[in-house]
Amino acid sequence: GHVLVLAGGLSYEREVSLRSGRRVSEVLQAAGISVETRDTDASLVPSVLADPPDAVFVTLHGGAGEDGAIRSVLELLSVPYVGADPDACRVAYDKPTAKAVVRSVGLRTPESVTLPKETFHDLGATAVLARIVERLGLPLFVKPARGGSALGASVVREAADLPAAMVGCFAYGDTALIERCVEGVEVAVSVVDLGDGPVALPPVEIVPDAGVYDYAARYTAGHTEFFAPARLSPEVMEACARMAVTAHTALGLRDISRTDIIVDGAGLPHFLEVNVAPGMTETSLLPMAAEAAGDDLGTLCRVLLERAAA
Ligand code: DAL
Ligand code: MG
Repeated sequence: GHVLVLAGGLSYEREVSLRSGRRVSEVLQAAGISVETRDTDASLVPSVLADPPDAVFVTLHGGAGEDGAIRSVLELLSVPYVGADPDACRVAYDKPTAKAVVRSVGLRTPESVTLPKETFHDLGATAVLARIVERLGLPLFVKPARGGSALGASVVREAADLPAAMVGCFAYGDTALIERCVEGVEVAVSVVDLGDGPVALPPVEIVPDAGVYDYAARYTAGHTEFFAPARLSPEVMEACARMAVTAHTALGLRDISRTDIIVDGAGLPHFLEVNVAPGMTETSLLPMAAEAAGDDLGTLCRVLLERAAA
């Protein structure tokens, strides 16, 4: 048999996905697994039918890879895959919905407003933005409600900069999430379930050289300093780990996820979002967390695939 790694796709995160797919394929091959790597166009269906893999590792970021669409196709084909099912993905990938779910189980997440493009224009952009600044204050974080890799996302420190931030956001999606920007230490907590329930890997602290963890800071080696494990007290580390596992469970996720968190000046974690197909590139967080835990990434991916296929 063989396993299939899906990478590429048509989202804005295609390039990142190709890098994640390459990395996962390499570590699986090094772990002795026979791997096929392929992009996701319509030829996926006949090729899977002709030679069904034992299981699929989805390293498709954004769009169909994370919103449940590709996983619905895999369900239709009766092919097992690593990660959350379509329903859970749909909820988790939509940031406002995910925030509402985690808030309902008691997690702290920054106050926010969700704004579809049409509403924004229909109600008059200037008036809408003024009301949002009045309600949430400054600074604000503007990002597409559904997206990733910080594409279309920006910090707004002055009300005058909000219109441009909205334009940048709507270039990548039809709905904006405008959040109160909590200042503090950014950490990412990866969660994996290797058979004993969801377990948090060591929180990784993110310190971008230019202060913002944008696309370039994410994927250019040397643009961001990472601390794995994070330089936080044991109590705060534990709170972050608990937050990630709680989010994973509350959202009905499976096998693998990564929760992004801001720890404020008082040491309190704030949930930002969860990723159902965490980046697996050379500069990505889950591989760093695995290394910090002393886990071999190839073995980790192999066990996830074996569990999916079982
Ligand atoms: N969306 C990118 C791939 C990540 O969360 O790692
Ligand atoms: Mg993300």
